[in-house]
Amino acid sequence: MDDYLFKPFDAWELIEAVRTRLERRKVIELFDTRAAHLQTVVMLANVIETRDPYTAGHVDRVRRLALSMAYALNWNTEDIVILEFGAILHDVGKIIVPRQVLQKIGPLNDEEWKMIHEHPHIGAQILDGVDHLRPAISYVLYHHEWWNGKGYPYGLKGADIPREGRLLAIVDAFDAMTSDRPYCRSVSVDEALTEMRKQSGVCFDPEMVDVFIRSYKR
Ligand SMILES: [Fe+2]
Repeated sequence: MDDYLFKPFDAWELIEAVRTRLERRKVIELFDTRAAHLQTVVMLANVIETRDPYTAGHVDRVRRLALSMAYALNWNTEDIVILEFGAILHDVGKIIVPRQVLQKIGPLNDEEWKMIHEHPHIGAQILDGVDHLRPAISYVLYHHEWWNGKGYPYGLKGADIPREGRLLAIVDAFDAMTSDRPYCRSVSVDEALTEMRKQSGVCFDPEMVDVFIRSYKR
């Protein structure tokens, strides 16, 4: 039972009640579909993450940090839904990078760097083939661009970098700094926040860094 009417009721009241229930059902179905998509995407991201055990939990932490930052920036609900998919799948293109490169302790050679530098493009191609994931391409394609134009794959500068990429670059780098990686040990949260401030205007959007630090501390 979903609802009830008091007798006597007229035909319009009944029609209105049925219409309201049907609309509610549609909202629930939409929510269930989104939840199902999200689960599939998380499963895929986790499979990729298992190839790189040093980054265990990275996808989930990036997702949570990105969500809280988007809330702090007052992004609308629709954009936040897309952000969640983008944050989970930002490194999906690493599927082309061999495990031994992801786990390599020493410095990478030119060929290995080339593979790493291709992961945003490959990720974007993967998302392009899926209608409901296509809007999240900006996260995947631009999360290694730097504010000073020295990032990849395009070397975009400042506000030319789509805001999705600017946001994700911040939370991705923060989590990388505070987790152990094959090539460097983690630093404390305070040290990482100090480094984020230092990289404000270099790697990261200065306004977004301020929002990140404020929202993280909160
Ligand atoms: Fe990446």
